Amino acid sequence: MTGKSGTGKPGTGKSGAGKSGGGNSKPSGRNLSVRVKTARRRKTSSTRWLQRQLNDPYVISAKKDGYRSRAAYKLLQLDEKFHLLKRDQAVVDLGAAPGGWTQVILNVLSSGGRSGGRSGGQVLAVDVVEMDAMAGAQMLVGDVMELETETAIRDALGGRADLVLSDMAPPATGHQATDHLRIIALAEAALDLARGILNPDGGFVAKVWQGGAEQELLSALKRDFRMVRHAKPEASRSDSAEMYVVATGYRGPEKEPENEENFVPD
Ligand SMILES: C[S@@+](CC[C@H](N)C(=O)[O-])C[C@H]1O[C@@H](n2cnc3c(N)ncnc32)[C@H](O)[C@@H]1O
Repeated sequence: MTGKSGTGKPGTGKSGAGKSGGGNSKPSGRNLSVRVKTARRRKTSSTRWLQRQLNDPYVISAKKDGYRSRAAYKLLQLDEKFHLLKRDQAVVDLGAAPGGWTQVILNVLSSGGRSGGRSGGQVLAVDVVEMDAMAGAQMLVGDVMELETETAIRDALGGRADLVLSDMAPPATGHQATDHLRIIALAEAALDLARGILNPDGGFVAKVWQGGAEQELLSALKRDFRMVRHAKPEASRSDSAEMYVVATGYRGPEKEPENEENFVPD
């Protein structure tokens, strides 16, 4: 498949994701395990991280498929389940660096999307850190928590968006409650932005970490969108609290009365 429609296993290794998509959403799997010796100046935790990276099937597949990050598979899997990406959309990718999600979005838009056809649409990749350029995407460096970034996003879009995606995550402090609150704050900022720029019927995805404070976010989403779901794609590490809220059917600025029935637990 291109970054879009395929199922099964990535790792064809034929070409870069930026070109062909190379984007099946499951890793090809590899049984050879790489062991990492603890170097004298490397902490045990770093050694464990390195060992996990080297043996992670999604890291291996991302390299083969030409994706800039293993995160690409999370979006591929979310899209397989929720059919979020379609041709000719204007998509805002928040927390885009190093660019795995942007590659997946571009592949879909340039392949004409699920239903095929001419390329179209617009991809705006935003991150607080600079990311390498990618043909077909507009890049914006800015902190989504700041008002001037919102203005810059509106200016760069020049219209409304069909989809706002946030894979933003703060640098982990290691203190679970703090990390949880910080990622929820990012997701809320993404939602605030989405409210101002989405087309009616648009979609919204944000990364959250489970931990309690996401309830307020969910209530806000239920007011603003017809369908709200939780999902943990297979590529999201099972030992992490990470998951995604997926909301579709933006009601637009005119809100209908809150409907408690529209949250479907995953
Ligand atoms: C998990 S990475 C995203 C991976 C990316 N989706 C991909 O596919 O390669 C999280 C990103 O969120 C960005 N980020 C964190 N806080 C942010 C903020 N306040 N504004 C913009 N980006 C932010 C980080 O710089 C980081 O690049």
